[in-house]
Order: sequence, then structure tokens, then C-alpha cells
Amino acid sequence: MKFFVDTADIEAIADLAATGMVDGVTTNPSLVAKTGRDFKEVVGEICQVVDGPVSAEVTATDAATMLKEADVLAKIADNVAIKVPLTWDGLKACRVISKDWGREVNVTLCFSPMQALLAAKAGASYISPFVGRLDDIGEDGMGLIEEIRAVYDNYPALDTEILVASARHVSHVRDSALIGADVITLPPNVLRQLAGHPLTDKGLAAFLDDWAKTGQSIL
Ligand code: E4P
Repeated sequence: MKFFVDTADIEAIADLAATGMVDGVTTNPSLVAKTGRDFKEVVGEICQVVDGPVSAEVTATDAATMLKEADVLAKIADNVAIKVPLTWDGLKACRVISKDWGREVNVTLCFSPMQALLAAKAGASYISPFVGRLDDIGEDGMGLIEEIRAVYDNYPALDTEILVASARHVSHVRDSALIGADVITLPPNVLRQLAGHPLTDKGLAAFLDDWAKTGQSIL
């Protein structure tokens, strides 16, 4: 399963990229707003740090203007994946950007398996189902991932990757991997939490204590 980082914070991205665990980045207008910085400049900087796809989202709501915005975003770097919302206009734009331009498209704000099927038929490289936001309203976020996996597996000609979005905690990552999601995008703190376990910390402390007792040094 690939790990994308779900942030527009360039310092956090650079820090995590150094671990070799970052396969891509997702941004959205809310994440860009948090930085207080120029959107295109931020996307350009991220693309210099990360080789994998960097999702940059259009903000128009009609297909024609989405395509104009996508053209600007696509010129920032070759690894910009254009993010469009799951609306009919977004699907129309997706079809043109993916099939005519040959550019990766991430279709976002997916909350149902039928929306995911439409995105795949429109040629999306990624479908982004928002698990955390479904959990927030008492629905089953991971259940949606299972359903999309089952639908896509029924039609092997569809090559859209399931990009689990709105992930809030480590169990979303575990469940996504068990279901066989292709990608998960994670806030930096959740990605960092993946390496942690209290027994790892406890075990390491005990090893270091015992090592100190030997008075030895490897170097
Ligand atoms: C990523 O592509 C999504 O925009 C993001 O994961 C949404 O996360 P949120 O529901 O925590 O805002």
C-alpha cells in the first residue's frame, strides 16, 4: 500500500520524505488555506521534494473552468495530479484530463461505491473515499472501502486506485491494508504514529540499560 502525505506543509513533507515512506502528497483548498501561502508556489515546492503524484485541486465548479484551472496546475510540474470533485462536471473534466491529456486525476469527495464506479469509468487514476467524514456522521467509513474494493475487483479492466482519504488514526491504516486499498493519504502525525509501539520503546530502553552495564562500545 502506498503512503501519501495529506498536507500542504512543506516542512512536514520534507521531513517525512527523508524516511523514504512518502509515495505522494495530497492537498486540498482547506489544507492550502492553513498555510496562508500562494497555492501554485506551494505545489511547486512540494513537487521538488516528492517524485510521486502531488494532488492539486481545482476550485471551479463547471467543467470548462475546471479544465482551464487544470491546465495551469498541470504546467507547475509533471507529477501534479489534478484533483476534481465528484460531481458531473468533475467527471466530465476527469475524462478529458485523463483520456485526452494523459494526466493523472484524483477524484475527490467520494462517499459511495456508485460514485467510485463513475470515477473509474471517467478514467480517474485515483478515487478518494473520505472514511473519517463518514465515521463522523455515524456511518461506516471502512465499510465503504470494502464495497469499492469489491466493485472494482469485479471489473478488472478498471485500473483506478483506491486512495483512502480523511484517515484519522492508525486503525484506518491497518484496516485499509487488510482490505487491500491501493493508497492511503495520511496527516503527518498519523504517518509518524505508524512506527510507534509502547513495547518497542520499553524494549529499547531495557536493551540500552543492559548494554550500558557491559561498559562496551561498538565503535
Ligand atoms: C485528501 O485528499 C482529502 O482532502 C483529505 O484527506 C480530507 O481529510 P479531512 O476529512 O480530515 O479534512
